Amino acid sequence: MCGIAGVVLTTGQVGPVLYDSLKRLEYRGYDSVGEATIIDGRILVKKDKGKIDEVERELRISGLDGVVGIGHTRWATHGAPSQENAHPHIDCKGTVAVVHNGIIENFMQLKQDLEAAGHTFKSRTDTEVAAHLVEENLKQGIGLVEAVRLAAKKLTGAYALAFISTVEPDKLVCVRKESPLVIGAGTDANYLASDIPAFLPRTKEAILLDDDEMAVLTASSIRLIKVETGEEERRKSFTVEWSVETATKGGFPHFMLKEIHEQPRSVRDALRTHPIYLDLMASTLDRAKRIFLLACGTSYHACLAATYAFANLAKVEVTPVVASEFIDGYGALVDQDTVVLTVSQSGETADTLTAVRGAKDRGATILAVTNVMGSTLTRVSDVYVGQNSGPEMGVAATKTFTAQVSVLIKIAVALAQRRKTISEKELQVLENGFDRLPEWVSMTVSNQGERVRRIVERYSDSLSFCFLGRGISVATALEGRLKLLELSYLPAIAYPAGESKHGFISVVEEGYPVIFVAPDDEVYSRIVGNVMEMKARHAQVISLVGEEDGEVARLSDETITIPTGIPSSLTPIVYILPLQLFAYYLAVRKGYDPDFPRNLAKSVTVH
Ligand code: AGP
Repeated sequence: MCGIAGVVLTTGQVGPVLYDSLKRLEYRGYDSVGEATIIDGRILVKKDKGKIDEVERELRISGLDGVVGIGHTRWATHGAPSQENAHPHIDCKGTVAVVHNGIIENFMQLKQDLEAAGHTFKSRTDTEVAAHLVEENLKQGIGLVEAVRLAAKKLTGAYALAFISTVEPDKLVCVRKESPLVIGAGTDANYLASDIPAFLPRTKEAILLDDDEMAVLTASSIRLIKVETGEEERRKSFTVEWSVETATKGGFPHFMLKEIHEQPRSVRDALRTHPIYLDLMASTLDRAKRIFLLACGTSYHACLAATYAFANLAKVEVTPVVASEFIDGYGALVDQDTVVLTVSQSGETADTLTAVRGAKDRGATILAVTNVMGSTLTRVSDVYVGQNSGPEMGVAATKTFTAQVSVLIKIAVALAQRRKTISEKELQVLENGFDRLPEWVSMTVSNQGERVRRIVERYSDSLSFCFLGRGISVATALEGRLKLLELSYLPAIAYPAGESKHGFISVVEEGYPVIFVAPDDEVYSRIVGNVMEMKARHAQVISLVGEEDGEVARLSDETITIPTGIPSSLTPIVYILPLQLFAYYLAVRKGYDPDFPRNLAKSVTVH
């Protein structure tokens, strides 16, 4: 997730306007920043890695002249944070500049083709291909708008792209597919941005671009065009009633709720991890004699879920370990035949980094999944992949958990394919599952939110909760418990459901709320007995079940329904959603701030 902005003025200076817009988009990314404008028929770019204010101090981006300009605040996906990888990117001759939010999936092929045609690339980003594609089209003598349209038709993936060009220096041209892009209609200026807060102090009139649409902005006109046909479209602007603060949270009262609702997109972005990286990870894992999965907190729960997938799909034994226990518990087993797959949203968690360094000292190969390119973890690991979630503002991890599980399951599937432990039919079911995941996530978040909120109302006086699951759902139960602990400060228990009779069951008395995670998977029939055990002790059973569920639903006091047909390995990505909402609504009900729970930091950089 990055933030893009653009402005075209009648008179004045774009620098201060873009700087202000980028500050308002900083929540979308903050590892590098840059702006481009056109002065005396030439494109001028100022960009560097660092937060906006750091780059401002160094380059004074707010002082940029010119009446047309684009800006970008970056959250790296392809290419580490660096001056070269910061946006805007320009073509070979400096006639086109582009900023981008999204992931261009076919950039490697396009880059090869463009290089073969004589283009020279300066960055390692996927974005730069867009500038060279437009340059290539301009060579054919067509106008800028058509050059952008034809370039967009060659791109696959997700993108919001904005261009300026010396060829038509009075225009901003932008195009959108899957990544957000909004136009701001001013009186003597027009704007574009990834999100409304960027231009809200300057205009409240906005036009949302649809997928596969482009817009051409001058200071006095806005044209919308269909990418496929080049036909013009008409759409009236609407008036934004939100304050800047509400708009920054996408209209939600808290970042956490916004981030829960962002998951259809963040899961889709996580699944976009390029097969080359997945294969590289899989081939390294395939050579290992011993594999450890290493992480803390939520990231550890993602590892726990992945452990089931590595065993069941790739038939590989992996040991998930809480990072703070790794060296004491397993250090003696680590050698050059060991691979440690580390998962950390921030890439800066002290316990995780210490364990990784300990493993490295003993000769292990380090693989990493992280949300922060350029983090310490990316520097100490041998191979890393990004989970592409964009910044997560809520201290409680939500969208980063579902993204981590998505990437890890993809790695497990890549390993299973390499080891030939998965049949064509199983693979087909999983591929189909990956395709449908964003839709299942979307349906669950939108359809179950109100139901979860009402259940929370009924149980808001409970002093404790228990979460039970079997198989891969143990990870979901543990993560649901962690969310509740973090946000509502209540003691809560999570167990493998089969283990509950070995101790936990003594806690259960009339009215005690027990939450069952019970997807319609291969362990379903065994969890029915566990539900009966709890009902026999007069527990209040709240169950998360598939839409067509019969037995567990019948035994439960409350049910939350999830779409059916989700492959078992993917269930944590959908079944965790109501539990995130449960923790959120309970915290709000208790008057706590879900974005900033007490005693917790987003990134724990102490031991
Ligand atoms: C999760 O909601 C917590 N914020 C916490 O458990 C977190 O997952 C843990 O500190 C690990 O962080 P990391 O993924 O950045 O390494």
